[in-house]
Amino acid sequence: MTLRLGDLAPDFNAATTQGLIDFHSWKTDSWAVLFSHPKDFTPVCTTELGYAAGLAEQFAARNVKAIGLSVDSVTDHLSWAVDIAETQGHAVNFPMIGDPDRVVADLYDMIHPNANDTLTVRSVFVIDPANKIRLTLTYPASTGRNFDEILRVIDSLQLTDTYKVATPVNWTNGDDVIIIPAIDNDQAAQMFPDGWDEQRPYLRVVPQPS
Ligand code: BEZ
Repeated sequence: MTLRLGDLAPDFNAATTQGLIDFHSWKTDSWAVLFSHPKDFTPVCTTELGYAAGLAEQFAARNVKAIGLSVDSVTDHLSWAVDIAETQGHAVNFPMIGDPDRVVADLYDMIHPNANDTLTVRSVFVIDPANKIRLTLTYPASTGRNFDEILRVIDSLQLTDTYKVATPVNWTNGDDVIIIPAIDNDQAAQMFPDGWDEQRPYLRVVPQPS
């Protein structure tokens, strides 16, 4: 099933390293980062899972729950987690879904047969509190993802939802932002009483609200 931005993230039941979960019930009204890795006991995946574990405070500050997945078993995940803690310095502190029957992997189209017909690619789904998919990423097995970029996008999405601003190229937290086109100047004047830098009628720059 191809999932696109704005689609409802499908619900599922799954065994994880933290017990059986119903995805939507587990997630409740948080944001979620659901991500797959190709295989337990592999080097790039080990670094990714360790880094993601080290972001626990960053995820919590953004009301985000992380959850991993591969087609390995929960037993393998638990055994591999020992290696991750020892080599990466962070114990995995979020659930890892064991999906040997590929139920969730198929539901989220995480197996791309022309890349590998048995293992999940490196998929990322950022899902908002209303269970809508807000970001999808697909990386090849040989390239570790940039989890700081995932946080950056979540920051951008949360700013858009709260303040009706968009973020420009290479924006990082604290940089100036852009008033979204759907907000006309009368509305903008209410929302940004200190004004904005109107470089073009469609390009209205303001300091990042907080
Ligand atoms: C890795 O995590 O290192 C890896 C996994 C599958 C294929 C290639 C690399």
